[in-house]
Amino acid sequence: MKPRKLEKLVKNYFLKKGLPFQPALTFADVVIRDNFSPIDSRSDIRNLRVPLARDVVLNTPVTSANMDTVTDHRMAIALARIGGLGFIHQFFSLEERIAEVRKVKRADNTLIEDPITVLHTATLGMAKEEMKKHGVSSVLVVDENKKLMGILTHRDYRFMEDDSLPVTQVMRGGPICGWEGIDHKKAIEIIDSRRLEKLPLVGKGLKLTGLITAKDLLKEKEFPNALRDKKGSLMVGAGIRFSGDYLAEVAQLVKAGADVILLDTARANSHRVCDATKAIKKRFPKVPLVVGNIDTPEAALMLIKAGADCLKVGIGPGSACKTREATGVGIPQVTAVASCAAVARKYGVPIIADGGIRGGNDLSKSLVAGANAVMIGSLFAGTDESPGEMFHDEGRRWKMYRGSASAEHQFDRMKSGSSDGMRTPEGVPRRVVYTGPVKSIVEELLGGLRSCMSYVGATDIQRFQKLGKFVWQTRSGHEEGKPQS
Ligand code: XMP
Repeated sequence: MKPRKLEKLVKNYFLKKGLPFQPALTFADVVIRDNFSPIDSRSDIRNLRVPLARDVVLNTPVTSANMDTVTDHRMAIALARIGGLGFIHQFFSLEERIAEVRKVKRADNTLIEDPITVLHTATLGMAKEEMKKHGVSSVLVVDENKKLMGILTHRDYRFMEDDSLPVTQVMRGGPICGWEGIDHKKAIEIIDSRRLEKLPLVGKGLKLTGLITAKDLLKEKEFPNALRDKKGSLMVGAGIRFSGDYLAEVAQLVKAGADVILLDTARANSHRVCDATKAIKKRFPKVPLVVGNIDTPEAALMLIKAGADCLKVGIGPGSACKTREATGVGIPQVTAVASCAAVARKYGVPIIADGGIRGGNDLSKSLVAGANAVMIGSLFAGTDESPGEMFHDEGRRWKMYRGSASAEHQFDRMKSGSSDGMRTPEGVPRRVVYTGPVKSIVEELLGGLRSCMSYVGATDIQRFQKLGKFVWQTRSGHEEGKPQS
């Protein structure tokens, strides 16, 4: 696309959005216009589904930042259970990232494809050892050809003291089984009618092919809005660094179960990131790839052409960011999102608005500007599910949050063997108030979004993005909108 044509495309988009083209605006500079609305109540708005990349459709338009004080498996599990997506950060070693991804995939897995087993020649002690290693209380007993011979559950061995007994003497032989490919409804029927905890699945010749547990099926009921893959496991994203052996990293993370790969760097408007995007898409054309961060339509176009399935937009709006202060670079977030969205929407590529989300209004404004989802750091850093310890000070409870480019984070990375070296810090560490479960934060954000959608007159996100328009406001307009104390 010629530069003139690109500018015209962006200008027209801004006009449609009610945004001035020249000044760069952020969340506090704009408000969303309300429309005549046919919606009676915001509780009528139930559908918040948005595509994120290829086959990945979020049920909740929220993702968690790939930062060491925000997302490990606990955040990813909690967020996927309520329909969003967590991105395991790239500062873990590859082995650690693989382990984190596996923990998410196993968390609410209704079908365990590779259940824990012991051979029929094992003793009770060996079986107990195996169960302890994997943190489970029962195990399947198989022969050398994986033929299912029995099941050993806690009820069978809880009063047994002689660990030298052969496991075949303690297990229950001929357990009730399901068959390979059984659907969930049928599995629930069998588990319920026979009062089972575990239903092993077998194929030809009674060969063990999987396991379904009642506990996991109940979790499926408990989290009806969860973001699940085709096999019923929770979805998870994983970050990679373009400076490493990124092709090998993608291969191993996808093998471990990662559903989305995030190629993440502070400056994605570069030939190295463009080349890495092309190389990843060439080798793994079906793997959903998010690339960021950028803040201009030119960068969006370049990365879309390189094959990115989703773009992450935001340079410096984050609450632990110092990029703008340190370098003078970084376009205010509403303008950044809208100018990238002008291009991305033309090519059907979703955007994640990354950074600066402090409440429901920022979420709504990000979506109206053209993002399909937001990425959140500091708002999630004080939750139960973020990594790190809670501490007490001045009568309150806190957790630590730090920019990925802060001196403290760089220093810790060097201490654990990174060869990156120290750069001028572009992030800061700070403490954030402890806020309890992440679910309650997301519910509050979604409450604001639903209410905004009802003002705009949209019952789904696609319509909201279409109908939503901004009005530019003055600083005193912004002040007027704040509750007076
Ligand atoms: P919030 O506002 O949710 O923003 O805390 C999270 C996002 O901030 C970005 N981030 C950084 N940006 N220097 C920066 O300029 C940093 O050190 C830094 N650390 C994180 C990142 O995009 C994250 O998702």
